[in-house]
Amino acid sequence: MTPIPSNILAYIRRDMRNVPGWLRKGAAELIAEISCAQTEAGIKGDIYEIGVYHGKLTILLALLRSDNERIRVCDVFSDQKQNVDNSGGSETTSCSQFIANVARYLKEDIPNHRFLIDAASSLTLSLDKVEKNNRLFSIDGSHRDDIVEKDFRLAISGLSARGCIIHDDYFNCFWPGVSVAVSKVLLEQKETVAPFLIGFNKYFVCRVSELDWYHKVTESLKVRAKRNGWSVEKSEIFGRSVAIICDKSDVSYYNFHAEYSLHQKLERVVAVFMGRLGVVAGRARRFLAGLVHG
Ligand SMILES: C[S@@+](CC[C@H](N)C(=O)[O-])C[C@H]1O[C@@H](n2cnc3c(N)ncnc32)[C@H](O)[C@@H]1O
Repeated sequence: MTPIPSNILAYIRRDMRNVPGWLRKGAAELIAEISCAQTEAGIKGDIYEIGVYHGKLTILLALLRSDNERIRVCDVFSDQKQNVDNSGGSETTSCSQFIANVARYLKEDIPNHRFLIDAASSLTLSLDKVEKNNRLFSIDGSHRDDIVEKDFRLAISGLSARGCIIHDDYFNCFWPGVSVAVSKVLLEQKETVAPFLIGFNKYFVCRVSELDWYHKVTESLKVRAKRNGWSVEKSEIFGRSVAIICDKSDVSYYNFHAEYSLHQKLERVVAVFMGRLGVVAGRARRFLAGLVHG
């Protein structure tokens, strides 16, 4: 597999930290790896991103475009009353600030014919704006279930035959609307789309017809993932195999078993202690009663 180009690696490993946002380095690398694999396999198309915040992921996606590919993004920007669940918190940005952030890294005047902006709620989007040929489609706007559901349905309609959709926060317990909506659509369309990769708070979905190809891509990531010190696992979801790639901090965070055992041990220590205390209290009570009754 072709390695990620050096200018893109430099953005991920050095410059990305200067742009506010939630994109993790591991997630950025996974997205870049998948995009490079697509390009190598001759998969061409456009890129769409819902929920850009300050442009942390947008810059990466724009760098990943090849010659005639376009990127189109959607965010409510300063119109935060449209941000019904306050996704992104209070530090969201204006469209002009977003443009300035992105332009600094892309060195092109934005917007242009290869970089288009829909400054509005994703609720206003339809297929004529999103178009049908997206090879990468990121969804990280509102996290409310009805809006995520609409975004996901639109992304499926706008996905090219061999493209993939990237959801954020599917396993984030603070945003349950995401997993509710994504699972609902996945179950309903289980013959059409399916997840193939989970990692670094991203959840990757492709058309069922492309599952084998995406599994081969994730399989070929193993060596590099291990070199990065990441853990590579396999699991099953909705009856289909899915790869899980995460780093050591995720492994210890999600290692509930160890935490649960410790918790159990503590409970046992407390129970034994309380039991002994009860026995001692009973003996003391009987001793005192003996004294009183002579
Ligand atoms: C969590 S942030 C996105 C983070 C970004 N993907 C990153 O990697 O840094 C969510 C963004 O979605 C935007 N947003 C919230 N509701 C939206 C909606 N209905 N349509 C479009 N954008 C929305 C917010 O303004 C905010 O910028």
